[in-house]
Amino acid sequence: MALLSVLTPVLAVVLCLVLGFMLVKSRETKTSSTSERKTEVASKAKDFKPWVDQDLQDDTETTAREDEDGDWVDNCEEDRQHVPYSPPSYPEEMMLQRSEEFYTLLNQRRSVRFISPKPVPREVIDNVIRTAGTAPSGAHTEPWTFVVVSDPEMKHKIRQVVEEEEEVNYRQRMGDKWVNDLAKFKTNWIKDYLDVAPYLVLIFKQTYGILPNGKKRTHYYNEISVSISCGILLAALQNVGLVTVTSTPLNCGPQLRVLLKRPVNEKLLMLLPVGYPAADATVPDLKRKPLDDIMVRI
Ligand SMILES: Cc1cc2nc3c(=O)[nH]c(=O)nc-3n(C[C@H](O)[C@H](O)[C@H](O)COP(=O)(O)O)c2cc1C
Repeated sequence: MALLSVLTPVLAVVLCLVLGFMLVKSRETKTSSTSERKTEVASKAKDFKPWVDQDLQDDTETTAREDEDGDWVDNCEEDRQHVPYSPPSYPEEMMLQRSEEFYTLLNQRRSVRFISPKPVPREVIDNVIRTAGTAPSGAHTEPWTFVVVSDPEMKHKIRQVVEEEEEVNYRQRMGDKWVNDLAKFKTNWIKDYLDVAPYLVLIFKQTYGILPNGKKRTHYYNEISVSISCGILLAALQNVGLVTVTSTPLNCGPQLRVLLKRPVNEKLLMLLPVGYPAADATVPDLKRKPLDDIMVRI
């Protein structure tokens, strides 16, 4: 009995200590899980890029900010002045005529893989590239670089890179289905036009901008913007009677970027050999979908 009365306060103290310890521990766990959640939310907010469409998520935009070795700046636009805008306008009949003429012109555009070596005036190329540079771009970032190659040695080096990779593409990477789908175009990894065409235009998308002070800036929708400018470039070439073939040489981008001494923020989007069509040029007899198949009226 005497022993019990001595031990009771001791037990009570031990019990209090155990309860106190448990309480502190549970608070610590709560605090750490709350702070973990906060960190998670903050990191999600950092990765949250509303301008990147889920369907169009492209690694260049999603990884750009993971490359933390440089500082980023916000695209804080100064208070830009607005100016009056009055583009040309036409009476309705002329609109109709112009729309038909423009359609007829662009409907004659074909991808031509047989290009003449006949020289093309440099100023014409300058103007079509200027025209491509009129494209709209996300937040007016103009995320494009057009590398125009006319030097025969450089054209040949480009051809070597492309043919080497394309042979692997056709033999291994593309698979039977893709190769069969391309059969009607009679294409393979041999690309004579890369030596023959007077100009090769390599279009790079700038996945982010690099300011003169070395800071990086986000190039919203860079791939869409550059693709639009490529479309305008194709139309501008058609307008002056030149031809090209839209090519997207698979797995050649990094090597061509290094060969052409382009910076790491640039990725090759397209390669366009440009010139007059060869006298004996042929194209596959393709038909385009009629209006009713491509347009939905609501
Ligand atoms: C994004 C894109 C990538 C293409 N890549 C290639 C290519 O790598 N090689 C090629 O010979 N043609 C390529 N083409 C051309 C298509 O085969 C051609 O546009 C299509 O067959 C329709 O023919 P058309 O351009 O004469 O109307 C490409 C076209 C596009 C739009």
